Amino acid sequence: MYRIAVIPGDGIGPEVIAEGLKVLEAVSDKVGFKYETVTYDFGGERYKRTGETLPDSATAELSEFDAIYLGAVGHPDVEPGILEKGILLRLRFELDQYINLRPVKLYPGVTTPLRDKGPDDIDFVVVRENTEGLYAGTGGFLRKGRSDEVAIQTSVNTRKGVERCIRYAFEYCRKRNKQKKLTLCGKTNVLTYAFDLWERVFHEVGAEYPDIEREYAHVDAICMWMVKNPERFDVVVTDNMFGDIITDLGAIIQGGMGIAAGGNINPDGVSMFEPIGGSAPKYAGKGVINPMAAISACQMMLDVLGETQAAEILEAAIIKVVSTKLKDMAAGRMGYSTSEVGDLVAEAVSGQDIC
Ligand code: IPM
Ligand code: MN
Repeated sequence: MYRIAVIPGDGIGPEVIAEGLKVLEAVSDKVGFKYETVTYDFGGERYKRTGETLPDSATAELSEFDAIYLGAVGHPDVEPGILEKGILLRLRFELDQYINLRPVKLYPGVTTPLRDKGPDDIDFVVVRENTEGLYAGTGGFLRKGRSDEVAIQTSVNTRKGVERCIRYAFEYCRKRNKQKKLTLCGKTNVLTYAFDLWERVFHEVGAEYPDIEREYAHVDAICMWMVKNPERFDVVVTDNMFGDIITDLGAIIQGGMGIAAGGNINPDGVSMFEPIGGSAPKYAGKGVINPMAAISACQMMLDVLGETQAAEILEAAIIKVVSTKLKDMAAGRMGYSTSEVGDLVAEAVSGQDIC
């Protein structure tokens, strides 16, 4: 029996999570695993009502679950940063979800803005460090609001944090067993302290993985190659900030925010799965948003829980629906409503032959 904490959150979060849960039920009926869910109302509405982002008991309580399934946080009436830092980043940090795993995979039949590139070319995974870097929140203001104001925000890179991230990426690359190539994405020509540490650790740890080819590239070049030659990537490892930026680029080349999912992974604890597109308040309540990213996040959750067969069945159902049914991945252009897309995936799960 799996225990899953559900945080639907803000904006379109609840709508897409409802479809993910619909599909989860179909997969569990098909494969036979059991689960229960507990829903938490963390998000902008709760914050507006109570002034609290997360109760202090939240992380201890959430760490008792097998997984967390998150919709989105971000509310138009709440100042930027409050919910992001107070909920999303706080959970990532306090639950020590030190990996943000973001597959960039173009499914057949899905349109990419990259002319001449197809599913064989766009299939890689970004391993983003998820607890340090510029996200650590160190820094502050001097003389705030004055004309001689100073704002400082520094990137925190610990050997422990860098090493566990890089080691995870090597292991992941080996397990994935495709090109067996790990690319370190950095900026050693300018960030000569932070990425010096990353590069040294990359080669030190890499010596233990003689079967994995090592490549280093600057983040700006990576952006160019993600557009020009995405086929050169297998697994890319990088820090928190660069990982945030390059995975939005990744999301667009795999078909857009309607399909991109990620996992905040603590390999020794509880992990949290989310569509990466945010709360998109302008689409909330309209039934036009594509729930496929949330459904893909559910597929990653099953995979990490060890429900390999369930994850495979769900991925096959996702592929069937995106390649034969949906006209477009973008909100309002799927040819179906949010809940109809969930129905299609649930049917594709139930209708599958399994041996
Ligand atoms: C993401 C988001 C978050 C991040 C925001 C909402 C804090 O952009 O998950 O990529 O920057 O990590
Ligand atoms: Mn982001």
